[in-house]
Amino acid sequence: MSSYLVTGASRGLGFEFVRKLAIDPNNTVIGLVRNKAAADTKATAEGLRNVHMVEAQYTDFSSLKNAAETVKKITGGSLDYLINNAAVVSHISGYKTFEDFDDDFETIEKDLWESLEINLLGVIKTVQAFIPLIRKGKAKKVLAISTGMADLDLINATEIDFAAPYAISKGALNVAIAKYNALYKKEGILFLAVSPGYVTTERNQEEVSPEDAEKAAVLVTKFIEYAPHFKRPLTPEESISAVLSVLHKASIANGDGGAFISHLGTKQWL
Ligand SMILES: NC(=O)c1ccc[n+]([C@@H]2O[C@H](COP(=O)([O-])OP(=O)(O)OC[C@H]3O[C@@H](n4cnc5c(N)ncnc54)[C@H](OP(=O)(O)O)[C@@H]3O)[C@@H](O)[C@H]2O)c1
Repeated sequence: MSSYLVTGASRGLGFEFVRKLAIDPNNTVIGLVRNKAAADTKATAEGLRNVHMVEAQYTDFSSLKNAAETVKKITGGSLDYLINNAAVVSHISGYKTFEDFDDDFETIEKDLWESLEINLLGVIKTVQAFIPLIRKGKAKKVLAISTGMADLDLINATEIDFAAPYAISKGALNVAIAKYNALYKKEGILFLAVSPGYVTTERNQEEVSPEDAEKAAVLVTKFIEYAPHFKRPLTPEESISAVLSVLHKASIANGDGGAFISHLGTKQWL
């Protein structure tokens, strides 16, 4: 029996983690969400039983500490796996380059700070709040969901020049995971950053402007050039099965501590 906590469990890949993990009735699955009532309604509608939705704000350390107290009561004082999945994907710079903002540095600065606040500091605060429970867990594994869009070789090879604040925040997250590995490896706690691949979730099915749709098509063309085998985005089910397999296989003994790898367990992002 294992206990899992998944952040950003309300929708997308976070909800898929929860759904998939809850299939095993021996697992204790906890979803961290910003709106518990809505998440409970969705979980019930999907027929999920052994899932506990707990509310927290990733910007607020005391709210995360309170959530850790709630989780402590649910699990009996420990946590095996912490999966940091929640992230903001900017609508402002998603398909814009630095140059597109021209002299509007205020907008780009605001956008970058928001990306860092959720995607980097939100994870750091969550780790700090839950590390006492992880220390008492059996598996002792902390995962951060990153993105291949933060891989320097991919950026340089594809020349994907938009969505810089998002990529910067995830690049910084990868460094934070390596720093946590440097700090906690000696205690036997595995830290790992994994990209889930390119996945169809509600987010990338949202209606976008014709200009952004054009950029999205450019993105797919660049993906195909970079990885000629790439045919289509993964389904959440395919992606999360692969990510969980990487997570379960990874170990400090195998040299995986602090690594930044894909859902394939390699540096192949697509
Ligand atoms: N989908 C892909 O192709 C892809 C590719 C590479 C990496 N990823 C990564 O995979 C993870 C999940 O992505 P997804 O596609 O499932 O995204 P999603 O559908 O947009 O879901 C994002 C989750 O993060 C939470 N979140 C969003 N903005 C937030 C904010 N400002 N403050 C706190 N929580 C916030 C959301 O909670 P609320 O419901 O409360 O807003 C939601 O649960 C992310 O880390 C993303 O960067 C995805």
